Amino acid sequence: MTSEGFAPAKINLTLHVTGRRDDGYHLLDSFVMFADIGDRLWFEPDAQLSLTVTGPFAEGVPTDRRNLIWQAAEMAGQTAHITVEKNLPHGAGIGGGSSDAASVLRHYGVSAGASRLGADVPVCLASSAQRMQGIGDILAPVNGLPDLFAVLVNPRIHVPTPEVFKALQSRDNAPMPLDLPHFSTTQTFIDWLATQRNDLQDPAIARASPISDAIDALHACPHTLMARMSGSGATCFGLCETLEQAQSAASILAADHPDWWVQPCRLS
Ligand code: C5P
Repeated sequence: MTSEGFAPAKINLTLHVTGRRDDGYHLLDSFVMFADIGDRLWFEPDAQLSLTVTGPFAEGVPTDRRNLIWQAAEMAGQTAHITVEKNLPHGAGIGGGSSDAASVLRHYGVSAGASRLGADVPVCLASSAQRMQGIGDILAPVNGLPDLFAVLVNPRIHVPTPEVFKALQSRDNAPMPLDLPHFSTTQTFIDWLATQRNDLQDPAIARASPISDAIDALHACPHTLMARMSGSGATCFGLCETLEQAQSAASILAADHPDWWVQPCRLS
């Protein structure tokens, strides 16, 4: 019997780099939410592990042990024929392979050791609004948030995560406030997010200027109240109060930039 999984896009609404460990990994303080768009997976029990990759972003995705899906299934000690429909650009700051791996672990009811697959896998396993600290391993759920919508934009460039971290000018930046405020409206939520940062945004732009074009285009869009890069890029997001506004912003951006990946979504 085939069963299904979903691997939502992960969005770092904020990403403060607050230090560096002796092993080179960075300490983070990040507000993470998940989109209602993502990759889809299908699991068909089989005597051996095998992987088929389909969908608009299938090209270049390995179908062997190099894929985190494979490693997650091995960690779970399970064999199946797994199909993944890659709807999200990968290596793009929105979870990609980490969210796929988390979907496999969720399917098999495994949570221990998720961080061994990657720093973002634990938060993707939670797959709901979280404050993420440590190197991604310390999670605290954030509840009672107002509705939030976004338009996601990827200018179709790839920036390698280690290089962006390496290019940081400062590694000891201020964390978010100890206690996050309570947000009674979407507007106050977005206003507060605008006061926070993604410390990886400037080093990513220094390597890849189209990220700055994407942020400028999001700012220029009616209905987007703030714009920022997610993770180590290159995907950026514009935040909106309603789904209709996110859809209108997406139509405008897609018409102006037919070569970009543009998607409206709800965040939760
Ligand atoms: O854990 P993952 O393989 O996803 O991380 C990719 C790279 O991103 C690491 O090799 C490291 O260079 C960088 N990274 C970091 N600090 C983190 C997470 C990732 O320096 N907290």
